Amino acid sequence: MQFFSQENQKNINLKRSCLIGGIKDSFLNQSITLMGWVNVRRDLGTVVFIELRDRTGKIQVVCDLSKQKHKLVKNIRKEFVLAVTGKLVNREKETINTKKVNGNLELVCEDLHILSESKTLAFDYEDDSVGEALRLEYRYLDLRSSKLQNFLELRHKLTHITRNHLSEKDFLEIETPILYKSTPEGARDYLVPSRVHNGKFYALPQSPQTLKQLLMIGNFDKYFQIARCFRDEDLRADRQPEFSQIDIEMSFVDEKDIYNLSHKLLETIWKKIKNVNSIDFISMSYLDAMNRFGCDKPDLRIPWEIKDLSNNVKGSEFKVFSSILEKNGVVKALAVPLLGKSGRSFLDKLTDRVKALGGGGLIWIKSDSGKLSSPMAKFFTEDKLQNIFLQAGGTKDGLVLIVAEAFNKACAVLSDLRLHLAEKEKAIDTSVDKFVWIKDFPLFENSKQDGKLVSCHHPFTAPCIEDIPNLLSGKFDYKNILSRSYDVVCNGYELASGSVRIHQSEVQKAIFSNLGFSDKEITDRFGFFVEALNYGTPPHAGIAFGVERLVMILAGTSSIRDVVAFPKTAQATELMSDSPGVVANKQLQDLGIKI
Ligand code: AMO
Repeated sequence: MQFFSQENQKNINLKRSCLIGGIKDSFLNQSITLMGWVNVRRDLGTVVFIELRDRTGKIQVVCDLSKQKHKLVKNIRKEFVLAVTGKLVNREKETINTKKVNGNLELVCEDLHILSESKTLAFDYEDDSVGEALRLEYRYLDLRSSKLQNFLELRHKLTHITRNHLSEKDFLEIETPILYKSTPEGARDYLVPSRVHNGKFYALPQSPQTLKQLLMIGNFDKYFQIARCFRDEDLRADRQPEFSQIDIEMSFVDEKDIYNLSHKLLETIWKKIKNVNSIDFISMSYLDAMNRFGCDKPDLRIPWEIKDLSNNVKGSEFKVFSSILEKNGVVKALAVPLLGKSGRSFLDKLTDRVKALGGGGLIWIKSDSGKLSSPMAKFFTEDKLQNIFLQAGGTKDGLVLIVAEAFNKACAVLSDLRLHLAEKEKAIDTSVDKFVWIKDFPLFENSKQDGKLVSCHHPFTAPCIEDIPNLLSGKFDYKNILSRSYDVVCNGYELASGSVRIHQSEVQKAIFSNLGFSDKEITDRFGFFVEALNYGTPPHAGIAFGVERLVMILAGTSSIRDVVAFPKTAQATELMSDSPGVVANKQLQDLGIKI
């Protein structure tokens, strides 16, 4: 390596012998050159110890000032970048550090160059108490932390294993455009104005959905891509405005094939990264997941299930129950072990939590060594109360929480309490990762924003075969139509989503018109796609895994920003470069834009 050395202002020709993690026994007692950052510097007067660090490891460098002309060692500070040539030796027995890699070795400095100096850092990147805003402003320094080094290496391993696995299974990796047209995945588009066609815009892909389907029509049979996706949506702990998907599509397959492929892919990743022999990959319907766990992404590491008490309490004089059951609502319960002795203020806080979620209230039955108490006790005989408690799964010294609500509200409230109390009570078994394949989703739902009919997954998802004639005739109750879509859920995160696709043009058009698109809108927005379906479209299906969510689970972190090199904040800003930023007037003029 030829470089300009800061201390003697001249060009030096020096080659690194190896990375620090690549030091071999055969190098002992030989002169080698290492390059890296000063991790720690200890000055003992005539001897200075430097811990030199690169991406792969650390090693102690000993600079004996009495023997050397390297007085400049005195100027060296933490994070300076050095080239050190020296003899690799075994440490004296009493100074061996068995806890560290290379803890038995040291490099006795013969020659040393400062390649680059460093200002004093604004924070210690290994100190967990440093605030995130400062870390994000100096992200390049935070990236030096062992946490981010490990997480990004893990991310590389994941994509590397995936590429190898899918290539071995005859998939082709094909890139699709970033400057494209709107791809409906339920979020807002990021738009890019065209300079050549003023007034027109590209949309960055929310996913390569239509493009991967067109690749199937184009006879590529098995496609994958580590695809960048862009979505302008409200951000959460597991969402970024730009993220990556392991995007997959296959021809001549159905749900079962995608299930098997997903199982094998995840098992290969978990085997290679987590050293497990196999993973369980159970399958569950959407309705079953809602009934048992209150949500479609259940965390199965929590051993508690929701129970439906509607039949048990039918006909009771307790108005809270009878009035909701008359309105086709439900009475549902969650049993939590060992909280039977909870006091008033704890239960009041839970009730407040339920109300904040839009629930009407919370009823409880407590068991103190088997003796039950409840605010609804006066409406039921002792036997009946006992029966309700047991039906709910209540145990000696346990607590049963009951809500009476419309189905969706009851599910949402109890799902929240299940997660909240499991975290609080440390009832989540973090020693395993629990996967579940959720299937039989509804095809349509009402939009939370404006109540309009929208696709639960996306409009290219095939309906159940039996429902196709009804859809084509327009005579159907949308609530009764199931789709051929599926999700992969792990530890309460939606890891992946996919579906069998519509491959008949008339069915695709019928879906668009049921979603309220006019013929003109269908032609303008999706005309090319609907047309393509007319030219021999193989039956096809696919899935997309969120790369960040996979790495989050593998790394055991709950923040998506930990697994992205240069992440955005919850306000979709990037604090290091201060983006988004303003642009010059001339650029706006070129694009035909006035602000
Ligand atoms: P979907 O929109 O469900 O499906 O996305 C698939 C997976 O991508 C991940 N994901 C995200 N990760 C980080 N930040 C985000 N904002 C974000 N949004 C989604 C999740 C999710 O499960 N085209 C379809 C797939 C298909 O049908 O094949 C799609 O994109 O892990």
